[in-house]
Amino acid sequence: MLCRLWAGFVAAVLCAVAAASETYNDPDTGLVFSSEFKLYKADGRGITYRVAIPDDAQAYSSFDAVVQFVVPNDVGWAGLAWGGSMPQNPLLVAWRDDSNRPILSSRWATGHVAPQPYNGAQYTLFQTGTKSNSTHWQFTALCQGCSSWTLNSGVTRYVMPRGGIRMAFAYSPNRPSPPSSPTSTLTIHEVFGYIDQDLGKGLNANFQSIVERLSMS
Ligand code: HEM
Ligand SMILES: *[C@@H]1O[C@H](CO)[C@@H](O)[C@H](O)[C@H]1NC(C)=O
Repeated sequence: MLCRLWAGFVAAVLCAVAAASETYNDPDTGLVFSSEFKLYKADGRGITYRVAIPDDAQAYSSFDAVVQFVVPNDVGWAGLAWGGSMPQNPLLVAWRDDSNRPILSSRWATGHVAPQPYNGAQYTLFQTGTKSNSTHWQFTALCQGCSSWTLNSGVTRYVMPRGGIRMAFAYSPNRPSPPSSPTSTLTIHEVFGYIDQDLGKGLNANFQSIVERLSMS
């Protein structure tokens, strides 16, 4: 919490070490999220990354998740790596098109090279929880296929539904071109970092019914 008030390089370093996710009760969707704010500029600008999951999600299984980003308007693209590093895990990259609509792009990187479109994860944008104003925009989306994935070696990896896990994020000031296409080429990030996400802080007893309601609207 304090990290939001601090500014400057030293604070950025301290926050990167000390911050852990907190619970966020979202008034728009009714979901409880595990939420973490990550600085991408030393002046205090940052992106908030939130994840909500079902409270009956089991370790070493696949489950749906809802993801929400809150993004300052100067961001070109913002990325989330579900597996905590860039290579070989589901990447979500988000930006806006010229009509202010969020574009959600599912990607996979074979290494530290430009990530390509990835069909193993699907994102469904919800209208509720997706909005913008003069300083920020945010989106809320269902992800199917983000909690498990298979490496090139054949090994399957899982997101743990309780306890601290590492996710990763990346920021670029440049929007992909053309902005209307989710498969547009990305330019490399200016900043990347890690998110200490405790999904146990984003457990929802009524996950399925809320997702059904959000899918209708
Ligand atoms: C054109 C697109 C991209 C290129 C060319 C690229 C390239 C690279 C390179 C060269 C590094 C190593 C940098 C270093 O060690 O200093 C790196 C690191 C990293 N990148 Fe990317 N990247 C791209 C997109 C992304 C996206 C979309 C994400 C996340 C959604 C991401 C997340 C990361 C992270 C977390 C690291 C730190 C090392 C790690 O944990 O793997 N990158 N990237
Ligand atoms: C602008 O929108 C963001 C994202 O929804 C929100 O977090 C922020 O509180 C809003 N700011 C104002 C002044 O309403």
